[in-house]
Amino acid sequence: MIEKYAGGIAIVPVAISRLQLALTCPALSPSRTQISLANPWLQAPDSCILYLMSRDDALNDLIEFLRFPSVSADSQFKPHVESCADWLLQHFEKSGLDAEKLPTGGNPVVLARNNHKPGRKTVLIYGHYDVQPPDPLALWQTPPFEPVIRDGRIFARGSTDNKGQIFAHLVGVEKSLQSKGDLPVNVIFLVEGEEETGSPHLEDFLRKNITALSADIVVISDTGMVAPGIPTFTYGLRGILCLEVRLSGPAVDLHSGIFGGSVANPATVLIELLAKLHDQHGKVAVPGFYDRVKPLQSWERERWATLPFNDQAWLKTTGAPALYGEEGFSNLERVWARPTAEINGLGSGYQGEGPKTIVPSQATAKLSFRLVPDQDPTELRGIITKFLTQNCPPTVAVDVIFQHQGKPYLMEPGSLFGQAAQRALEKTFGQPVAFIREGGSVPITQSFKDVLNLDTLLLGLALPDAKAHSPNENFPVENFEHGIRLNQRLLEEIAELK
Ligand code: BES
Ligand code: MN
Repeated sequence: MIEKYAGGIAIVPVAISRLQLALTCPALSPSRTQISLANPWLQAPDSCILYLMSRDDALNDLIEFLRFPSVSADSQFKPHVESCADWLLQHFEKSGLDAEKLPTGGNPVVLARNNHKPGRKTVLIYGHYDVQPPDPLALWQTPPFEPVIRDGRIFARGSTDNKGQIFAHLVGVEKSLQSKGDLPVNVIFLVEGEEETGSPHLEDFLRKNITALSADIVVISDTGMVAPGIPTFTYGLRGILCLEVRLSGPAVDLHSGIFGGSVANPATVLIELLAKLHDQHGKVAVPGFYDRVKPLQSWERERWATLPFNDQAWLKTTGAPALYGEEGFSNLERVWARPTAEINGLGSGYQGEGPKTIVPSQATAKLSFRLVPDQDPTELRGIITKFLTQNCPPTVAVDVIFQHQGKPYLMEPGSLFGQAAQRALEKTFGQPVAFIREGGSVPITQSFKDVLNLDTLLLGLALPDAKAHSPNENFPVENFEHGIRLNQRLLEEIAELK
């Protein structure tokens, strides 16, 4: 057995843990408790060796999945995105599902299904295999696409967002098929490769595959948990609109001594323009921006105030010197239920070492607007574009370039499916469920409702310090295991619904 563990080594840090686990396994050693304490991964398994082997296999598979730099934002990574989809396809097949890789206008979608039987509920499980760019690379303790396990957490780009979470569902299904030969429900996996760029082709894909995707409910694990070990049900997401503003002044960068003072500086005009986006009270100052914002309900404000969040801890996670936001709202309310305008990036003029005296030819800003129910990204795209162009003086030319958008989402957590999810969460974590909204976006969620008429259960496994989109992104092995069990319990609970 031990030789087998040591023999299958692919990656050194994991290999060491496997070897240690095998050597200190309770079945081989007299003291089980001692080992559980020494080794936080171990949780009194019934059949230690088998358990470790299978758990390790799942972990090793996840580690393979994480090694693909499947970055969707940057076309240089396109070949890796493709091979990641191929790997996933093969993995689904290996797990006993029928899988196919289907083209979209962009990166492929991987679809997989078990043997569907009439009279059973059908669950559509959505996730994404694409990841955010890993930059800035210098801030990673270990390389982003060479996963390692440290202190019980897997560190890699995509570990939490979203490979670890979608893979937990896959493993849950795989294990149920292995142990029982069948699932209690019909399952469709839909794993896409463009979520991190706003799922630009997926709604169209849904429209073209309405019959193949016909189901009773959607399940997504791509959101957060309020704290470690606290099962969390997300019933609302913010939407998003991403734009780029490009101001053009002189045809080329000019000598600022010869020409400075005689033409407008696009960088100056840009910052004046961007400064108009907010008022003194932290509100977005674009006329009409708040017109469709649904007010927070009183039960939400009350419940959120009892959640295990405090501003001090939040501040610490951000690393910022102070908190700041729209007046009249708590921190959580600002993030979960209020819309925002953010500058994501600014560019103009000379950024290299030393001085350079120029009037830059261009200035650009990347903007994102987080939207809340019932704001409509398409409508706001028009409103915001008009605001930016009308507030721009004729001394520069302005272009507003659309990048992507996604609708906000809000559902009724007390529905029958919502209750089934709540039971599954409670059974998995042994704790009462926190009901929250999230500030992030999963752009396709509302499209499941609009196109397929399906509600979505958002049952996330991301910890507040998962560092999604940041250097040193990580996912606890424990959350991976919870995710596997959550999948199994959830499918059972859904199967029991009339
Ligand atoms: N998993 C996130 C969404 C998320 C983040 C939910 C935080 C809850 C809390 C998802 O993968 C994501 O990052 N989405 C992007 C979408 C965007 C690029 C269109 C986001 O929210 O920035
Ligand atoms: Mn993400």
